[in-house]
Amino acid sequence: MEKIPYGRHNITQEDIDAVVNVLKSGSLTQGPKIKDFEDAFAEYIGSKFAIAVSNGTAALHLCTLALGVQPGDKVITTPITFAASANCVRYAGGDVAFCDIDPETYLIDILKIEKLLKSSPKGAYKGIIPVDFAGRAVDMEKLRKLADEHECWIIEDACHAPGGYFIDSKGKKQLCGNGNFADLAIFSFHPVKHIAAGEGGMITTNNEELYHKIRNLRTHGIQQIPEKREYNHGIWYYEMQELGFNYRITDIQSTLGISQLKRADDGLAKRKQIAQRYFDAFSGKPFIKGHSGVVDGHAYHLYIAEFDNRNELIMHLRDKNIFAQVHYIPAHLMPYYRQFGWKEGDLPMAEKYYSRCLSLPMFPTLTEEQQEYVIDTICTFYE
Ligand SMILES: Cc1ncc(COP(=O)(O)O)c(C=O)c1O
Repeated sequence: MEKIPYGRHNITQEDIDAVVNVLKSGSLTQGPKIKDFEDAFAEYIGSKFAIAVSNGTAALHLCTLALGVQPGDKVITTPITFAASANCVRYAGGDVAFCDIDPETYLIDILKIEKLLKSSPKGAYKGIIPVDFAGRAVDMEKLRKLADEHECWIIEDACHAPGGYFIDSKGKKQLCGNGNFADLAIFSFHPVKHIAAGEGGMITTNNEELYHKIRNLRTHGIQQIPEKREYNHGIWYYEMQELGFNYRITDIQSTLGISQLKRADDGLAKRKQIAQRYFDAFSGKPFIKGHSGVVDGHAYHLYIAEFDNRNELIMHLRDKNIFAQVHYIPAHLMPYYRQFGWKEGDLPMAEKYYSRCLSLPMFPTLTEEQQEYVIDTICTFYE
């Protein structure tokens, strides 16, 4: 069997034609495709505003800046995420308060957040960065209520979950990152994600003030609304009003993003089928200690299963050309975060999860034959 990765992008002839056309168009960056991508993405997610940026990490950085994180500000996030979800707090000088996960959903445990918030005076924590980890939506309605009670802002890291959703208390579908609950939400267009743009990121929000602030910060802090300039020297004039960055996306990336976005729902449907097959194959097997399962609104960036002897299994799978992966090493155990006092035993659910988790191959072009091979190889290993 040829090598089977855990995730793989899917580039079609339509994607290639679109990118070739933009290469011939005369606008490689700062042209019309960026706004087109933002508009199409906002429509897909259901947010009022969207700002495309160079990658998901830049998106997170702009969010912490826009929300005014200051040195010493405490911000809560999950340890089971890519480092960027926490690092963005450090970029602004804030302190990361990791909060343990719910062992059933693998998401940050909202009850534990509540405990953390209630154990300190109001204002001790400035914000919360929940992650729709693996594609499973956080209950943002519940989290918003808690955040409001404790005067916290929310940045939803929805990198794994474009098209994912939860059902709110009124029975309404709430898409991840739609801006109804979080102040800001972010997405990534790294090739292993649902929508590949090479590199790329998006910030979504319903907050017009934050939208304009982030647009300025994306381009060096240069005021994007001419009427808001303090001076006017002539038609060549631009005005930098605060310290920003070059976190722009290109027209080339945006064009690929637009083309991929058109197939996003097809990709989601395929991921769901794959999840159902893993679920059917593994349910009731004694060697499975937990798995992602079949959950409404799950966007299945990853299908995770927990195994005893995970380390032996992963090596066995490599020998069989199956490149399953571990997502993630708990961020609080990274040497960088250990320097702030974090250590083994601090977040037992996350650490137990880490000792057993494995992300199985999950991408829309995974064939039934490949998936059968993965399932058979795992079952044979244990049986
Ligand atoms: C949960 C999460 N947040 C943030 C990021 C950062 O995105 P990017 O790689 O586009 O900077 C990633 C990407 O791997 C991610 O998985």
